[in-house]
Amino acid sequence: MRSYYIAGNWKMHKTVSESVQLAQELKDKLSGSKEKIMIAPAFTALDAVSKVLKGSNILLGAQNMGPEEQGAHTGEVSVLMLKDIGVKVVILGHSERRHTYLETDALINKKVRLALAHDMEVILCVGETLAEREAGMLESVVSTQLKEGLAGVGVDALSKVTIAYEPVWAIGTGKTATPEDADAVHAYCRSVIRGLYGEEAAKNVVIQYGGSVKPDNAASLMAKPNIDGALVGGASLDAKTFVPIVQFRS
Ligand code: PGA
Repeated sequence: MRSYYIAGNWKMHKTVSESVQLAQELKDKLSGSKEKIMIAPAFTALDAVSKVLKGSNILLGAQNMGPEEQGAHTGEVSVLMLKDIGVKVVILGHSERRHTYLETDALINKKVRLALAHDMEVILCVGETLAEREAGMLESVVSTQLKEGLAGVGVDALSKVTIAYEPVWAIGTGKTATPEDADAVHAYCRSVIRGLYGEEAAKNVVIQYGGSVKPDNAASLMAKPNIDGALVGGASLDAKTFVPIVQFRS
């Protein structure tokens, strides 16, 4: 049976004690889940949440990381530090990093390669703005983000990469791409992967949808053949909304 990958991006929310409380609730409620699950708390809560998740089926993720292993990089957090406290996955290229903090494809690619070199799983986010979509640039934007983000990544390392398609206009806005629209872009992403890595890699790559995923739209999105999971922001901040998204099949 097909398995889905549901990830929660907590963004800049929750103190350590609030994070521990939510992680514990998710651990208890999702222990029997058949889906792959990840949560990405803020950096300050990672260590405490890591202890809560020990022995659970929920992977610990970080929302970003620095482009170097160590050194004079004020304000950055290194892959070595993340691994040291049990982080298994890192979200890279999120649209808030691209658009608010002006991260380029080249910088994102450096982080992707560094994470993979340390055996860290990556969720590589791609997606167009509304202006880009309206200008007919959706495919060129997404294919550039994929090609440049994955430059230098070999086919073996690709098995540790999940793609998240997140149309920027759908993030935190309550607007979701229709399942048909999202599926068409996912199919396009898969065709870019096919061009870069071949048929087998294209078939196996996991492509999450992100952008206002909620309990009431999760099932219809993930029913589509090219949508293999969800990267959830706002609705991941409360067990009442995140648990039903993970359990969308039951
Ligand atoms: P949202 O965020 O679910 O709040 O739209 C998704 C994301 O940014 O990953």
